[in-house]
Amino acid sequence: MHFTKVLRQLSTRPTRQLTSGTLPAASGIISLYSRRSFSSTTISRGSLEPQSVSPLAPIGVEAALRAKTDPNFVPKSKIFDEFKLTDRVGIVSGGARGLGLEMAMTLCEAGARAIYCLDIHKRPTEEWEAVRDFVAKLEHGPRLEYVNIDVTEQKAVWDAVEKIGNREKRMDVCVAAAGVLKPEQDVLGYPAEEFAEVMGINVDGVLFTAQAAGRQMRRFGNKGSIVLIASMSGSITNHGHAWVAYNTSKSAVLQMARSMACELGAEGIRVNSLSPGHIYTKMTAQYLDTKPHLLDKWSSLNPLGRIGRTDEVRGVVAWLASDASTFCTGSDILVSGGHHAW
Ligand SMILES: NC(=O)c1ccc[n+]([C@@H]2O[C@H](COP(=O)([O-])OP(=O)(O)OC[C@H]3O[C@@H](n4cnc5c(N)ncnc54)[C@H](O)[C@@H]3O)[C@@H](O)[C@H]2O)c1
Repeated sequence: MHFTKVLRQLSTRPTRQLTSGTLPAASGIISLYSRRSFSSTTISRGSLEPQSVSPLAPIGVEAALRAKTDPNFVPKSKIFDEFKLTDRVGIVSGGARGLGLEMAMTLCEAGARAIYCLDIHKRPTEEWEAVRDFVAKLEHGPRLEYVNIDVTEQKAVWDAVEKIGNREKRMDVCVAAAGVLKPEQDVLGYPAEEFAEVMGINVDGVLFTAQAAGRQMRRFGNKGSIVLIASMSGSITNHGHAWVAYNTSKSAVLQMARSMACELGAEGIRVNSLSPGHIYTKMTAQYLDTKPHLLDKWSSLNPLGRIGRTDEVRGVVAWLASDASTFCTGSDILVSGGHHAW
């Protein structure tokens, strides 16, 4: 629909509320702006006041326009403020080590008040303790907390995260990273029990973790960002590897994120998936340490000619968790340097 026609309709039609799910294209344009936006005092580009406003407003070009008309308005860079998680609370499953721990630490560094790592390891790992001690010494002294839990136990996960909500009185961020990759097995003989085990952790466990956080986000009404850790293996298949259960589970996580995003968007709860490529962790070490030729193979499949480091997910998780990504939901972010295999 032509934009001027939309504007004409806006002056005669009541504002449409955003509902969860997909909006038809034309009404999508209409719902971006409200009728009360026809204000003669608006000095910004165009005459429409946006339906949603950044918590840091005015930012960007809007801030420049304010500075132009208001001599008391002091120009200040806000881009890094958008990434700040000041006083926020979150959970990270699989946070005892590997990518989960790296992302939990990132959230603490970005300003969170407390990040709870949920993991099946009975006791925190040595590296987890080192990270806890490190972040506690940062200026804002965030807490890294540990919760021993099996993410496949739905009620236990819900209850544990409710207790966190009772204690912290808010819930803002969830990273569902707990996952397993089993030894290779011929697809035609893949045992039912093992398939169910992988799906139980990588799919059910991710759902239960996201549910647990989402229930607290709804309870406190503070919106929130949920990041489901999928994998490039959810979109492509690792040629030469017999990983049918893992690949299938990661595809399910991609669709879970889109589905949850549509259901929860109206409450301001965003859900995205993050799909790493090969990164050296305990999970991939079981292959790389026993079959060294795989390092060359996996590296050669990557446009950058190498596999990733755990710290290379820091920027993207900080962005997804923060107000720097407030219009991003139902998306999959591939952090793999490009497409591997098929
Ligand atoms: N490393 C990679 O190359 C890579 C690539 C793509 C996706 N991923 C995904 O990233 C996530 C993290 O993987 P990683 O490489 O850090 O592996 P990792 O094995 O180092 O970490 C996985 C963590 O999940 C925990 N966990 C497993 N089962 C659990 C359960 N039932 N309940 C609670 N915790 C449980 C483990 O104890 C471990 O701490 C996984 O979902 C994995 O599939 C990893």
